[in-house]
Amino acid sequence: MNVVIHASEEAVTQCAYGFVRDRMNRRHYRVLGLPTGSTPLRLYRALVEGYRRGEVDFAEVQTFNLDEYLGLPPDHPQSYRHFMQTNLFSHVNIRPSHVHFLSGLPHDIEDECEAYERAIKERGGLKLQILGIGRDGHIGFNEPTSSLASRTREKTLTRQTIEDNRRFFEKDEEVPRWALTMGVGTIMEAREILLLATGRAKADAVAAMIEGPVTAMCTASALQMHPRVTVMIDDAAAAKLNHDDYYRWMSENDCQMAGYLEACKQRQAARGQTAKAP
Ligand code: PGA
Repeated sequence: MNVVIHASEEAVTQCAYGFVRDRMNRRHYRVLGLPTGSTPLRLYRALVEGYRRGEVDFAEVQTFNLDEYLGLPPDHPQSYRHFMQTNLFSHVNIRPSHVHFLSGLPHDIEDECEAYERAIKERGGLKLQILGIGRDGHIGFNEPTSSLASRTREKTLTRQTIEDNRRFFEKDEEVPRWALTMGVGTIMEAREILLLATGRAKADAVAAMIEGPVTAMCTASALQMHPRVTVMIDDAAAAKLNHDDYYRWMSENDCQMAGYLEACKQRQAARGQTAKAP
């Protein structure tokens, strides 16, 4: 797990933007798994700006959103489909047929979930999965006790998640209690994962994910078993980490590794030449 800590939300956003832009500009990376919520909002704004500057192109990109509330039609202002349309898709050149979503009003839940899994596979699998994290450590809507091998399915949301989502709805009774979500197992099959978290409210979940045991009580902890995960967080979200000094030191040193390796090669080449000299 590569843990990158920045001083501010803005710095996390800019770093995440650079990371995603780099992947989107590689041909084989164009199947993205996308989250909703307040955390990715800034990244989506940065992607829209990047698109306007000509730095990223969505023409060949396919997207699969992580989850959708059960019971909301796609045009409901609080549906995740609507969120994505408003905050990203309507501002960039993505083809409507390349946008994949779980239906909030499926004809048959099991068929809907199986078809989603099939559609991901048919497009070669998720290349980059972007994630947020819930205060209870969930990824997607994989609430505590979700199987770490779970596939796309319906989930009952915890009271805490319902409480966290309440701010987006006018009346309490409108807040959905169920959702369809990619499973932890589905997420774990992505080639690469980028998880973003900012703010003090996420500090406990971030510490449990990075430094706690792998457990279904914090489904984000399953990411410890994934070979390519980058976690980008701000100082506030990093506040409960025990080894943050190491993560910061690692980031600084990683930047210097390429230069160091080059210097080693040059020294080696110079030694070779000296050895050959008569
Ligand atoms: P948030 O949600 O970005 O709105 O905090 C994250 C999540 O629940 O995955």
